Amino acid sequence: MLRQKLNLLIVVLISYTCGCNKITLTETNQREEIRLTDNWLFQYNDTLSTQWEEVNVPHDWAISMPFDKMIDMQEVVVLEDGERVPKLRTGRTGALPHIGKGYYKKELHFNQKDKDKKIFIQFDGAMSHAKVYLNKQFVGTRPYGYSSFEFDLTPFINFNKKNLLEVHLENKPLSSRWYPGAGIYRDVRIVKTNPIYVENWGTYITTSNSTKNTGVVTIKTSVINSLKKKKEGKLIHSIFYNDKRVGEETTALTYQQEKNTNSTNITIDAPHLWSPSTPNLYHVITQVVVDNKVIDSYKSQFGFRTIEFTNNDGFFLNGKPLKFKGVCLHHDLGPLGAAHNYSALKHRLLKMKEMGANAIRSTHNPSDPSLVQLADEMGFLFIAEAFDEWEEPKTENGYNTLWHEWAEKDLVSLIHRDRNHPSLIMWSIGNEVREQTKENGAENTKFLSDICHREDPTRPTTAGFNNWKGAINNGLADAVDLPGWNYKPNLYKRIHKEHPDWKMYGSETASTVSTRGEYFFPAKEGKHKKRPNLQSSAFDLDFPSWGQTPDREFRAQDQNKFIMGEFVWTGYDYLGEPTPYNEEWPTKSSYFGIIDLAGIPKDRFYLYKSKWSQEKVLHLLPHWNWKKGQHVSVHCYTNYDRAELFLNGKSLGVRSKDTSKLYDSYRLRWDDIIFEEGELKVVALDGENNPIAETSKQTAKNPYQLKIDVDREEVLANGEEIVYATVSVVDKNGNLCPRAANLVQFSVEGNGKLRAVGNGNPTSLESFVAPKRLAFNGKCVAILQSSKTQGQFTLTAKADGLKPATVTIQTALSL
Ligand code: GAL
Repeated sequence: MLRQKLNLLIVVLISYTCGCNKITLTETNQREEIRLTDNWLFQYNDTLSTQWEEVNVPHDWAISMPFDKMIDMQEVVVLEDGERVPKLRTGRTGALPHIGKGYYKKELHFNQKDKDKKIFIQFDGAMSHAKVYLNKQFVGTRPYGYSSFEFDLTPFINFNKKNLLEVHLENKPLSSRWYPGAGIYRDVRIVKTNPIYVENWGTYITTSNSTKNTGVVTIKTSVINSLKKKKEGKLIHSIFYNDKRVGEETTALTYQQEKNTNSTNITIDAPHLWSPSTPNLYHVITQVVVDNKVIDSYKSQFGFRTIEFTNNDGFFLNGKPLKFKGVCLHHDLGPLGAAHNYSALKHRLLKMKEMGANAIRSTHNPSDPSLVQLADEMGFLFIAEAFDEWEEPKTENGYNTLWHEWAEKDLVSLIHRDRNHPSLIMWSIGNEVREQTKENGAENTKFLSDICHREDPTRPTTAGFNNWKGAINNGLADAVDLPGWNYKPNLYKRIHKEHPDWKMYGSETASTVSTRGEYFFPAKEGKHKKRPNLQSSAFDLDFPSWGQTPDREFRAQDQNKFIMGEFVWTGYDYLGEPTPYNEEWPTKSSYFGIIDLAGIPKDRFYLYKSKWSQEKVLHLLPHWNWKKGQHVSVHCYTNYDRAELFLNGKSLGVRSKDTSKLYDSYRLRWDDIIFEEGELKVVALDGENNPIAETSKQTAKNPYQLKIDVDREEVLANGEEIVYATVSVVDKNGNLCPRAANLVQFSVEGNGKLRAVGNGNPTSLESFVAPKRLAFNGKCVAILQSSKTQGQFTLTAKADGLKPATVTIQTALSL
């Protein structure tokens, strides 16, 4: 994999200079890290028979199973949605069978060479209530499905014999507000170290004086000595920028039994600062030396940057103002379910970057570790959120059942895992917790906030508050460093006036709902609007009672300089929460996404791009296939100030941005056009009425052929890389047929396979793993995966009566 993994076996520093003595260190077996991906056996629910299915990990057992309305039908009051009486909801958690028990087993082998080692098993997360056994002996448990955790397997191992690893999971009903996924859905690895080793997540790196001229790196290291005696040795830290060593420090140490902590400062000249536009990263290799042998090497990544949050002027990165143009992201990957896939996640972030986003809030739980790693590498500010629920239940079997025993442990695990990442700027301890309504709600807030300050005093704490009065009156907003407001653009000014010292931002904004390719006329605001076909309007004017249109939040952001920015709900559609159709079936996935569940951008993508990106945007909607004489609204999402619309060459008028009217501030509108077939064209104009850009839509004729667009034509042959192939139904001239619903059949030949399919229709109950998909509003997506063999693979897409399409992807061992 291209991915630069942390904490891998690192090249040994063979010789280094200590004062005037040149010391030679010997290479020795150091830490070894083995991902456990293949040859797992899996069984769903209590059959425990001989029926075991062979699976690969990461694995989501529910995503390949059929949808069923009964799976998560529940009569509940969702206070956050403003409900006061119970409603019968369906599809709230995705209507896939994630509820139940999952059993995994796998053989492990350890040989005589491993006998003197410490051997750990690490899970990036397992959904949920994991119980781990080795050779039928209980090793440990971790109930919160989003936490990363590690167990010491050493005492349970049979060397030179087969070892049986078993992982038992259980997802209870009524335990989530969205699709949580099911199974060992993130990476698992074995880590072997020598008996004296750097603890996992055992370095804490902070930087100070990060100016152009100098930066000081402080590295706090925790080294465990599991031998029964103390040992004399050294700890060496070497700092690298790219592959060049730019600093080092050696400390002589006596490794006492058990835990040793060391703090070292290293000064670096002219550090390259990290920012979203210059994601410069450093890493430190920490080496444990005993008897002149390097017996452990541990890699930690970090960056130099300063963060400053102000009450009046917003947020500053490296001394410069920067507004958060953020998105909230749930963890599922649409048709791939919750099964983590690095390249699919990277694909998502590339789209967010293309849109101009510079920040991510990982809602509402610890993310896969690679999300914050990608935020570092690709340049996104990052809010790591720990919980959606504390002691007060939102769902009967939710985190409230774990709160007393696990809250501190889960929060500390998150902080220790992620605190070296320069992208990470705040710890969010909770989202819309029901403690907001409790008089003593600030106690739990303070409890968690204090843990964050203790474990990482360099970053502020925050939480997303929806109940602003409760959060203020009960002291929760005061008990975090920065209150985040969910859906309160109209209150920013008032709260700022009443609490001028608070540093604030929109932790969750908009919740606009839309479906790709669905247009309803006239285009006007639709508060909690339900449509007969269970879709929401792609004009981006529909929203639930607590939400807003993007435009409304844009205006609040523009008018209130003190607000540090926003985090839109959500960057991508996700499984579950089919608001506004919570009681209607069949709906099972969200309408909130800027990009649909299959990964196809909705029009909204261009609205945000026109506001957030430096690139010029001129995007016309809707499509141009209507009934003759129909009254149609036409909008243009653009960062040009003026434009003229033409229908078949005839001008329909010039529109200019007008900040005195909300909906003319961020889009251009021609709201009553009489449809006629042909070409609709918009031409952007400069101040002197000169045309400077144009785009158009043509009326499509009958579906004639399929067309495939891929996000990449060459990928790694590592058995995991994903290619997104978007299939469009087009007419003879290549125009998208905007209502086409043809059944598309897929086949893949060569060194790759079809992993999943989707079309972004929230009401579709089609399987994500069948080799076919109905086009939805002209498009569907095949998600392809490379094999481990170098070569190529070819996707063919066919539909009855249409010309087929093919595409070939090259796969290489390195790129
Ligand atoms: C918020 C909540 C999110 C999601 C969203 C939908 O209140 O924090 O998790 O439910 O509403 O609009």
